[in-house]
Amino acid sequence: MHFYPSKRKNHMKSLKTLLITIILAGFTLAAQPAIYGDNGVVVAHTAEACEAGVEILQAGGNAVDAAVAVSYALAVTHPQAGNIGGGGFMIIQMADGRKIALDYREMAPGKAYRDMFLDDSGKVAPGKSTRGGLANGVPGTVAGMQLALDKYGSMSRKKVMKPAIALAKKGFEVPYHLAYSFGWLNKAAEGYDETRRVFCRDGEIYKPGELFKQPDLAKTLRLIQKKGNAGFYSGAVAEALVKSSAAFGGSMTIEDLNNYKAIVRKPAEGTYRGFGVLSMPPPSSGGIALISMLNMMEAMNFDSVGWHSAQHIQMLAEVEKRAYADRSVWLGDPDYFDVPQEKLLSKAYGYLRMMGYDSLTVTPSDSIYPLNDSDLANIVPAGYESEETTHFSVVDKWGNAVSVTTTLNWSFGSYVTVEGYGFLLNNEMDDFSSKPGEPNSFGLIGNEANAIEPGKRMLSSMTPTILTKDGKVVLVVGAPGGSTIITTVLQVINNMVDFSMPLQDAVVAPRFHHQWKPDVIQYGPRAISPDTAELLVAMGYTLAPRSAYGEVNAISRDRVFGGWVGAPDYRINSHGAAY
Ligand code: GLY
Repeated sequence: MHFYPSKRKNHMKSLKTLLITIILAGFTLAAQPAIYGDNGVVVAHTAEACEAGVEILQAGGNAVDAAVAVSYALAVTHPQAGNIGGGGFMIIQMADGRKIALDYREMAPGKAYRDMFLDDSGKVAPGKSTRGGLANGVPGTVAGMQLALDKYGSMSRKKVMKPAIALAKKGFEVPYHLAYSFGWLNKAAEGYDETRRVFCRDGEIYKPGELFKQPDLAKTLRLIQKKGNAGFYSGAVAEALVKSSAAFGGSMTIEDLNNYKAIVRKPAEGTYRGFGVLSMPPPSSGGIALISMLNMMEAMNFDSVGWHSAQHIQMLAEVEKRAYADRSVWLGDPDYFDVPQEKLLSKAYGYLRMMGYDSLTVTPSDSIYPLNDSDLANIVPAGYESEETTHFSVVDKWGNAVSVTTTLNWSFGSYVTVEGYGFLLNNEMDDFSSKPGEPNSFGLIGNEANAIEPGKRMLSSMTPTILTKDGKVVLVVGAPGGSTIITTVLQVINNMVDFSMPLQDAVVAPRFHHQWKPDVIQYGPRAISPDTAELLVAMGYTLAPRSAYGEVNAISRDRVFGGWVGAPDYRINSHGAAY
């Protein structure tokens, strides 16, 4: 194995020494954190959702109570991704040591089948898995919030849903970027009359600052508040949901809704340079891919490497390709496919995967194969996917932490709004492999592990994550961005742990992404300088510029005052609140 040479090491070390000297001499001030709270912090996409969370914390609720309040408030104030018609994942680290992964991912309806998105000639039919009723998975968010509250919360549903209901009933001022999104939705959702009525006022688009009231959604939320799961998965809401999905070709039944269950799972766990890493296990690929990449990186030395230099980008790109190759074959719903989770999370896997890695050359994606059965047999664990989705982080005064990523999949999901009840349905069915071996809308390749089956949960990339040190929470992090979610979280951790960046800098830093196939490095604005790009192209990489992505909303422990620091991704319009 050949890791980074240290030709520049002495030079870089002396630069680092100089930098430390300057900091100690008082020339450099610590970055002003965007949000600081002695007791609790919420960082999320909308200001209203953050306020809802802090209101619950101040009333004595714990981080789980606040997370449920934030989730419902996002369903009102961030209709592109916040939802009751979608699903998500919640990672919880309780101060008493309990570690929990809540899975409220959508499920394929009972009438779903393997080839449902293929045309007569066996090709993937464009649009069938992404818009309209067949794109709808059975929603999980309401059941997930109920389970979180019942098992780990301390407040009543009545109390935690109050802020969201008030926001839907009384309205909130439409921020600029939401007005903009409504503008394009009005054109894109032609034929989806209920969606255009509810969100686009039948073409009379909301302007920034106008009040947006959602009486239908307020009614639905009140039903859930009163009856819990029964207010959503049966009765009038369930009937309207099935009817609205069917009106656009969907096959979901009342029975599918009645049968939906949120699941408590064991989180994916690993370590990175002395930090504990807790993340989402299957049916998300996020936790396993993140931890396996961190394991591969642990043998690398970043001390002599410049941030976003050609060396740095090569190191991460090679790690990312290998993890995404294995994602394509080995990850799927664990209730339907035997995911070799323990092996993929082991340090031995990280070592095996990087055999043959050369710091000076590029391994083309076509010569990287997902590990096969016999490769996996050799691993002995040591000692034991538009890209709308939204992430929020919550911590409380007791040291409990909650990391939540939730989604409708694409922006505004399938465009199907449940008639008379004011909420959108997801298009999560596109996260399955419509045709094993062919890419989905994020360009991700999947195989048998992620083939469509009735009742199965589609593979996700959502990576809600918590880092701990000596058992105490030090970082709560996650991101939207489809297939880029995992490498976004990876880079925030790499920025902080290996490059000593303050949280806010790590959150808004430009990013790059490799996902094995297509064999290109995508990069956001200013992520790769022109001379670095030349070096990478000379090495053999193909580069693809793209717009900014990955709205990370993170919280870390403040090392000076002992409270919490919040870092919203202000490039994209996120917010935070604290007390
Ligand atoms: N829908 C994007 C994801 O779950 O990864």
